[in-house]
Amino acid sequence: MEKTIIKESNYRIRNARVIKARQMTAHEKLFEIALEGGENLDYEPGQFVIVSLLGVGEAPISICSSPTKAGSFELCVRAVGKVTNAMHRLEAGDDIGIRGPYGKGFPIRILEGNDLLFIAGGLGVAPLRSLIKYAFDNRRDFGKIHILLGCKTSEDMLFADELDQWFKRMDVHYECTVDRAAPDWAGHVGQITTLIPGVHLESERTFAVIVGPPIMYRFVIKEILAKNIPERQIFVSLERHMKCGMGKCGRCQIQNLYCCQDGPVFNYAEIKNMKEAI
Ligand SMILES: Cc1cc2nc3c(=O)[nH]c(=O)nc-3n(C[C@H](O)[C@H](O)[C@H](O)COP(=O)(O)OP(=O)(O)OC[C@H]3O[C@@H](n4cnc5c(N)ncnc54)[C@H](O)[C@@H]3O)c2cc1C
Ligand code: FES
Repeated sequence: MEKTIIKESNYRIRNARVIKARQMTAHEKLFEIALEGGENLDYEPGQFVIVSLLGVGEAPISICSSPTKAGSFELCVRAVGKVTNAMHRLEAGDDIGIRGPYGKGFPIRILEGNDLLFIAGGLGVAPLRSLIKYAFDNRRDFGKIHILLGCKTSEDMLFADELDQWFKRMDVHYECTVDRAAPDWAGHVGQITTLIPGVHLESERTFAVIVGPPIMYRFVIKEILAKNIPERQIFVSLERHMKCGMGKCGRCQIQNLYCCQDGPVFNYAEIKNMKEAI
């Protein structure tokens, strides 16, 4: 497995500023961030940054915007603990430290020219949105695009305004399901796996990209394999506790792999036999 080369500048904390902050759901907030001096972050879809808050701590967060958008980038943050709750108190104009980008992103050169099946559960839509927006901005480079999203309830749905636009696109097949329906929900109800059998896929030219909570992978991959998609055409993004983000501390280790450097995006065929991976 090829190692990611980390640029010298990515080791240091870069000063940045919150340009916009918007509450999306009860627990998630979307931040638009710009590096000081108009520097570009220079990232790939699927990579992450380490957010550094002075006197509070650091946390790895996936970049959820597309690199096709220059000048700033976006992070979608769920408030779960010390750093992420402190982030939720930030507003436009506040300063923030950024390390990275880190990790291996989605393999765009491999995906080009093929049909794509994107599957996201919960907060998994954040890193996947980066790739989805990239594919939309380079639409001619990709074949059919299928997007399947799942969340607990419609109130937990992230980027709800954008999802409506995805639904309206003629060049995309988009479906969304909720585990529990509110009275005003007119869409699909059930787990995300229930959407997969109904999707028409050409298995030899379809690549699946899956991001979601750990429990989701095993069941979703089973359904995808049942559609005869080869294991090598399945990519997953895995989340592990991290500290350095640069392959130094070993906190994110999965056997001989460092999730922060060898991942977070992995080819399923390469990790399927690693007990702790999925
Ligand atoms: C590559 C990567 C990308 C991520 N992308 C995002 C993102 O886009 N948006 C987002 O909101 N979060 C993301 N996370 C998760 C985020 O990093 C953690 O939720 C965050 O570190 C928690 O920090 P905290 O100080 O707020 O919480 P803490 O006070 O450290 O912990 C709060 C609780 O969260 C648990 N926790 C901490 N880190 C993790 C983790 N990595 N996985 C599971 N549980 C954890 C702790 O065990 C504890 O129970 C990502 C994590 C990784 C590794
Ligand atoms: S987070 Fe330190 S080695 Fe991966």
